[in-house]
Order: sequence, then structure tokens, then C-alpha cells
Amino acid sequence: MGSTTEDSIPTYPPSLPVPNVQEMVWKDPLKVPERYIRNEEEMHTKPELSHLSSQVPVIDLSLLSNGNKEELLKLDLACKEWGFFQVVNHGVESKVLQGLKDASAEFFELPLEEKNKISMPPNDIQGYGHAYVVSEDQILDWSDALIMLVYPSWFRNVNIWPTKPETLKDSMEAYSTELKRVAKELLGSLSLIMGMEKGYLLELHKELVQAMRVNYYPPCPTPENVLGISPHSDTSTITILMQDGDVTGLQIRHQGGWVPVRAIPKALVVNVGDVTEILSNGKYKSIEHRAVTNESKSRLSYATFFIPLDEVEIGPLSHLIDTQGSLPLYKKIKYGDYVRNSMKMKHDGKAHTQIAKAK
Ligand code: OGA
Ligand code: NI
Repeated sequence: MGSTTEDSIPTYPPSLPVPNVQEMVWKDPLKVPERYIRNEEEMHTKPELSHLSSQVPVIDLSLLSNGNKEELLKLDLACKEWGFFQVVNHGVESKVLQGLKDASAEFFELPLEEKNKISMPPNDIQGYGHAYVVSEDQILDWSDALIMLVYPSWFRNVNIWPTKPETLKDSMEAYSTELKRVAKELLGSLSLIMGMEKGYLLELHKELVQAMRVNYYPPCPTPENVLGISPHSDTSTITILMQDGDVTGLQIRHQGGWVPVRAIPKALVVNVGDVTEILSNGKYKSIEHRAVTNESKSRLSYATFFIPLDEVEIGPLSHLIDTQGSLPLYKKIKYGDYVRNSMKMKHDGKAHTQIAKAK
């Protein structure tokens, strides 16, 4: 486990088996089992701040790539104050974005036994199934997912790579190749605003590992007491999310409430992950987020997590502590240990970041 030689695929702590939500809804669209119902406190103590949706920062990637100073400042502010932003002018062709959406939609429409041909093995989290279910009494998310390691390509578990629909593999490949380019640009700019050489973060990763999670959220008859995905922050360096245009579901913590992130056509949503928060000693925030459900429509989302190799040590960059005169908030930890320990915990906001907290 956690080895990084070319002949071994990393594995992750497994998730407990739970019902397939799409199938449950298909059989009885009005049923919401107890295990999915959340309490009033979780659902209603923090306000929904819909009026702030239009203020989620928008970053122009073509300007960043040209080293535009103003755009770099905007990125710095976005990472400090929101931890989330939308990226436009990223150069990924619409047909590549649409190709993945169409093929994924087709995959989730397949009969369950067809999808289960690539179901998550009991000792891993790659495949079709659920992640982060660690106890029998945990409240469950109203979603199913297809999770896989895409890059480096020798990390792929070919047994769970989808063969149906035939277009899915190629469209994932095309999308992921383009996203790798976008991520490298973003890591370059992040390195600059962290006061490092442009190539610093990419090099730190040793190998830029890219994992993909396609989320399927079926309609839910009681969206007021059910969540599509529990509040969490991502264990990545950065995450890039493509959203479907017609159903809003992603919400992010901001100013004590939840701000819905509305899809801008063709834009990609980017968020700072835990690794960036740790490296920047908390200057850039890995923000808690969740997905709500919709009463009448299903929703798909496409998350790509960019992470370092397991062996990479992460910890606050020394120059940031020296120049800020601040104490390190995090200790040094191997990324592989951080991510595996966090996967043994259910999604519970930022509770898992304790793993890396300085004593
Ligand atoms: C995730 C995630 C949000 C969404 O997959 O980590 O936060 O909108 N998804 O689906
Ligand atoms: Ni997430």
C-alpha cells in the first residue's frame, strides 16, 4: 500500500457497502430511509446565502498563463477569502466538456448489473460505488459515484475502467488530458503567489496524480433533510469540478453560511485543497463544501483531484513561517499517511485536518 514504483497501483482504505441510491429511487421515488435523514441542526442552523453566489471569484486562465499581475492578485484574494473560484478562458473545447457529460449520463442510465461490473472492490475505493462510509450508523449521502485514478496512467486499475458506453473511456481520457494542462497552469500561478518559482508546486508533487470522481445525485423527495454529499474539505492540492448547467447543488462555507455555486456555462470550479492549506500554513483556505439534492431533477458533477505521490512530505513552507513570523499550524506529514488516515473517517467538515495539525 502506498508504494509508488511503476508496477504497483496505490490502494485506499475501503468504504462499507451501502445501497445504490439511484436504484432505490427508481424502485420507490418517494422513499427516504432513516439512514439518509439529517437533523434540524445540521440542515438549518447555517443560513443559505444565495445572494452571495454572484460574488464567487471568476479567474481568467489565459491572463494567468501570461503572468498578468492583476489576475495573480485576484487569484491570491480568491484563495485567501473564498478558497473557491470559477475559471474561464481555460481553452478546454466545449466538445470535450460535453463529451464527458454525455458519456457519463449514459453510463449512469445503464442497468445496475451493468454498472456493477465495475463495482468498487471490497479492498479499495476505485470503481462504481460509495466512498467515506466507515460505520454502520453513519448518515448516508444521497449519491452514487464512479471513482478512478487517471494519471499517472500506470496507477489505473484496468478492471474497473468502464467499457460501456464505449465513448466513456475516450471522453474521460480527453477531458483528463486537458484538465492536466489546466491544473499545471494553476499550480504554476499558485507557486508564484506563494512566493516560489513557477515550477515549484508541480515539482513538489514528484508525479502529478489525478483522480476522478463522477457524482450522480438522484432526485430526492425531501431535499430539506437530506444531503447529496456531506460537508467536507478535499484532501487534494487543488480540485477542479465541472458542473451540469441546469441544476445547482454545490454549496460552500462562507461568512458563516452556505453559498450556492451556480454553474457559469463552460466554466470550471476550482477549490484549494488541504495540501495547499497546509503548505501555505493556512493562508489559503481549503473550504468546507457540500452538495444539496433536488426534488425533481438528477444532477451529475465531475470532480478531478490533483494530489502528490504518497511519499511526498507536506508541511508549511519555511519561508512563509519565517516572513510571517507565525507559528507552524501544521506538522510535516507524508501525503500518503494524511490521505489514508482521513479516509478512515467519515466526511465531517474539516475534522480530518487534525491529522496534520501541529501539536
Ligand atoms: C466532491 C465534491 C461537489 C459536487 O466530489 O469532492 O465536493 O458538487 N463534489 O458534486
Ligand atoms: Ni469535495
